[in-house]
Amino acid sequence: MKNTVATLQAQKDNHDKITMLTAYDYSTAKLMDEAGINMLLVGDSLGMVMLGYEDTLPVTMEDMIHHTKAVSRGAKNAFVVGDMPFMSYQTSIYDAVYNAGRLMKEGRCHAVKLEGGMSVCPQIKAIVEAGIPVVGHIGLTPQSVNALGGFKVQGKSEEAARKLIEEAKAVEAAGAFSIVLECVPAKLAELITASLRIPILGIGAGVHCDGQILIYQDMLALFSDFTPKFAKQFANVGALMKQAFADYIKETKEGAFPGPEHGFKIDDEVIEKLKQ
Ligand code: KIV
Ligand code: NA
Repeated sequence: MKNTVATLQAQKDNHDKITMLTAYDYSTAKLMDEAGINMLLVGDSLGMVMLGYEDTLPVTMEDMIHHTKAVSRGAKNAFVVGDMPFMSYQTSIYDAVYNAGRLMKEGRCHAVKLEGGMSVCPQIKAIVEAGIPVVGHIGLTPQSVNALGGFKVQGKSEEAARKLIEEAKAVEAAGAFSIVLECVPAKLAELITASLRIPILGIGAGVHCDGQILIYQDMLALFSDFTPKFAKQFANVGALMKQAFADYIKETKEGAFPGPEHGFKIDDEVIEKLKQ
């Protein structure tokens, strides 16, 4: 079944958890889609896990469109969300609508995501009015890493928690159909999830959110530069890959690979003639 804004809302209403993973390429998106994932996020985290930057700030619209195109081609039923990169929406409402439009038109995603609370509500409203569904993103917002002073848990004090609840409500009121809540205490996330109508997708936000999102390199142990506390390792695919690469190197050096079964035949007669 194809996932839509309406089916995702129905999942919240029916207490059926929404599943979401990041994806950045065609073949991985296809595997996740076949496994039955509800949503795929082409996150600007691709700057870190795919491109090797220290944070998400250098990611461009061109990077996002390129990867979103690939993921959209691999997703048959999953609802694809494209992330708006740093400075593609903060600068003006015009830029926000223009770039959200590009991401949807060229990347072929079903919705866009952008970071921030009250300060980006005019942008959310304008993008939604253009017919583009929006996912909000509050709590730890990695594009503001320099303002936040690092990647750390948000909303711990009463003041910060109140502000986060206000931001969630404002983003909902601006027209977002869902919100990613990143790195906040589980009990606060539970409170926010209960007080909002739209689905809350948690990452490092406890079990009471309406759904979960993870960066797939984190859950598969494919990225060792930085591992957040909330990233459960579901399989050590990184170790498996490294072993396979080492086996390939060894077998190639030894002449054990390729075997006859991996090659193509030619009539001996032809070779004999060539040798004459
Ligand atoms: O870019 C990303 O992967 C994200 C998720 C962590 C929510 O924004
Ligand atoms: Na992101």
